[in-house]
Amino acid sequence: MDTAEIRRRFVSHFENAGHTAVPSASLLLDDPNLLFVNAGMVPFKPYFLGQETPPYDRAVSIQKCVRTPDIEDVGKTTRHGTFFEMCGNFSFGDYFKEGAIELGWDLVTKPIADGGFGFAEDKLWPTVYDDDAEAVELWRKVTGLPDDRIVRLGRKENYWSMGVPGPGGPCSEILIDRGPDYGPDGDFSAEDRYLEFWNLVFMQDELSAVRSKEDLDISGSLPKKNIDTGMGLERVAYLLQGKQNMYEIDVMFPVIEKAMELTGRRYGAGGSEGHTDDVRFRVVADHVRSSMMLISDGVTPGNEARGYVLRRLLRRAVRSMRLLGFEDRALPELLPISRDKMGETYTELHRDWERISTVAYAEEDAFRQTLRAGTAIFDLATTEVKQSGGSQLSGDKAFSLHDTYGFPIDLTLEMAAEQGLSVDEEGFRRLMGEQRDRAKADAAAKKGQHRDASAYRAVADSLGSPVEFTGYAEVVTEGAVRGIVTAGGVTEAAREGDEIELVLDRTPFYAEGGGQLADQGVIELANGARVEVRDVQSPITGLIVHQARVLSGEVTVGVGAHSLVDVERRRSISRSHTATHMVHKAFREALGDTATQAGSENSPGRFRFDFSATGSVPASVMTDVEARVNDLVLADLSVHAEIMTQDEAVKSGAMALFGEKYGDEVRVISVGDWARELCGGTHAGRSGQLGVIKLLGESSIGSGVRRVEALVGGDAYRFLAREHVLVAQLSEALKVKPEQLPERVNDIVERLRSAEKEIEKVRVQQLLDAGAELAAGAEQVGPVKVVAHRVDGAAGGDVRQLALDVRGRLPGGEPGVVVVIGVADGKVSVVAAANDAARERGVSANALVGAVGPLVGGRGGGKDDVAQGGGSDPSRVDEALALVAAEVGRVAGG
Ligand code: SER
Repeated sequence: MDTAEIRRRFVSHFENAGHTAVPSASLLLDDPNLLFVNAGMVPFKPYFLGQETPPYDRAVSIQKCVRTPDIEDVGKTTRHGTFFEMCGNFSFGDYFKEGAIELGWDLVTKPIADGGFGFAEDKLWPTVYDDDAEAVELWRKVTGLPDDRIVRLGRKENYWSMGVPGPGGPCSEILIDRGPDYGPDGDFSAEDRYLEFWNLVFMQDELSAVRSKEDLDISGSLPKKNIDTGMGLERVAYLLQGKQNMYEIDVMFPVIEKAMELTGRRYGAGGSEGHTDDVRFRVVADHVRSSMMLISDGVTPGNEARGYVLRRLLRRAVRSMRLLGFEDRALPELLPISRDKMGETYTELHRDWERISTVAYAEEDAFRQTLRAGTAIFDLATTEVKQSGGSQLSGDKAFSLHDTYGFPIDLTLEMAAEQGLSVDEEGFRRLMGEQRDRAKADAAAKKGQHRDASAYRAVADSLGSPVEFTGYAEVVTEGAVRGIVTAGGVTEAAREGDEIELVLDRTPFYAEGGGQLADQGVIELANGARVEVRDVQSPITGLIVHQARVLSGEVTVGVGAHSLVDVERRRSISRSHTATHMVHKAFREALGDTATQAGSENSPGRFRFDFSATGSVPASVMTDVEARVNDLVLADLSVHAEIMTQDEAVKSGAMALFGEKYGDEVRVISVGDWARELCGGTHAGRSGQLGVIKLLGESSIGSGVRRVEALVGGDAYRFLAREHVLVAQLSEALKVKPEQLPERVNDIVERLRSAEKEIEKVRVQQLLDAGAELAAGAEQVGPVKVVAHRVDGAAGGDVRQLALDVRGRLPGGEPGVVVVIGVADGKVSVVAAANDAARERGVSANALVGAVGPLVGGRGGGKDDVAQGGGSDPSRVDEALALVAAEVGRVAGG
């Protein structure tokens, strides 16, 4: 049964039982605790927690999921996929254990001919959580299986949580016995033998902390008893397709086939080498698919968080192909195969193909460069280790290879092993950990003081309904204080000077999000207290938190609040946001749909816009885009917001934004009928209000991503006005018309250059002219003529030239020695030159430099005839010069 058919049967089975079919949400739902959606229930979390009222009591979905903590296991087991699809049926306070067991068992065991999956009952083993006697009873009743076929397991296996605080509960699973080839009878920890493919969670608890599968804190009961069922699509597919593992199913194996064709190696060839190759083939199939799905949902490769996971997946895929012996660009060969398979369900893969492939291929190219650069560094490091007689590459080196050259540690380990070296992995991990902690601390500092969500959770629970954001329509709002959080946690009151996080029931303050910075302003309380709002964040869905300082009076929960947004700042930020949409659209017109937004920041008067592009954006495109958006500013298009369904939005041509839940209502901002984009931000009323948009420039911020910075409105005007004044001043100073400035400046630069050359010549000449005079004034020290001279403003080459010149002018045949000390820019240059006759008397240029060097704070050396040195202390130059005659006297004085 192919995967598509399994999907169809799952969805229609539950639709027939009154469930609403809900399309998969994006992998990037906005949950502060999760990098990616990692289970089918994630989009429904607010319903389980009672934060939102579900529009249905029963739902069925097939949700895209990504889990990467066990990335190292991919390919080694039969069932670890970084991307997978979860088929789920959900009850929100409707049916509970019995209904869920009946519905599940029915689909699993119903014959294939009747629309089920046709699993043989005698191979199936239901499991229950330890003491869940009720579940045992229900399994017996529904399935007719004897008691000893119902397995009791502990927390590790049969208590489900998201791995982070949130909803959870005991669960019951269905395992399938794959026979004695896969492990001993009755050993339910032999996961390959007793494979779990159906997990039924009795979602009833709220968890405040999850330290491990077994170590967690249940803080209370959920408002209702719910059902969350997950059936791993890939697992069922490989069971029903008679395959050995998930990598061999219909939607994945074609990638392995292509990889075989490219590498000339065979999957399943047997032997230990064959096994290693098999793992690599599976890694390729898995990672190619996962990265494609991630890029499709808007992730771009980077060095942190989601971007880093993607980068790692792409690089591991490429690296595995290399280890299989294929060194050319691999992704352009493999990705389209995965697209053709997954695109049957996820049609956006075809629609967004240009963008997806551009991002992936650019990362492969960057990685190939990394490999080239990093390999050189790696070779150097290993040579050093070997030369010093060591056998271990330091953690430091491994870390810098990773951090600076993007060299994955497994690559370093492998390459080191090839050289017979080990790697200080512990040191490496420690440095990685430190770096991670720094990143976490940064993120926490940015998002608010209380990343431990429990304080927010407590406030949100006490609210009952989400905070109402009134800021689309007004900038002044009446509301009331509903919660106060301080460094110590939730509190009832705060006094003058306190730094607090304030929650109101209604607020016009926009919380930072969607690239738009937060509003600032003041909140006046009914009791006369005043609070200054500096930042606004939404740490959990439905909650808006004002980070504020109490200016005067006392803030208490319950008191009325009169909120006043700083209107100038808001307007200015709104103009930036509208300008960002316009620039986005204009770049897509100019460069094609691959120029998709990858990030943005809208601040007062300026914005930054990141988008995907393969190379630098030509200057002509920048000029055209700027002209285009300014024309549309002049056209004074109206900017309006509409709420519509996701489908309607796509049909209206809105540019997709990532992270929306499908099926949700979305807000679409249109600038005229030209730029249409999903957006939750605030905007100008008409494009004319933007005044003028000035693009400042563009640059690269990572493989395949470009950043444009720009000014809007008054800031753009002031920038241009300043430039105008500058040009006027230059044209006045240079006495030419502005349009002749470039030519004039070129001209001046040219003349300056030749003048400098001229001056240089003269200076050298002067220096040499001084030579004759110096030679004439030589001091007689015993038989030796000595010149010791200081020149200010001369350095190395000039000093040397002068010293040699003077030596040449001393009377031939007589012993003579010259020491010149130049001082320029606080640096001292010493050159000594001795002639043959002097050297015969034991005078050495080298020894002289050695003698005076320490006095000028430096050292140097050379040969007996000419020696040179430098120093950094000009204060004792005269002393040094005096020392010359003394030294000569000491050696040759007699
Ligand atoms: N949430 C459970 C799981 O992910 C069941 O859907 O296994």
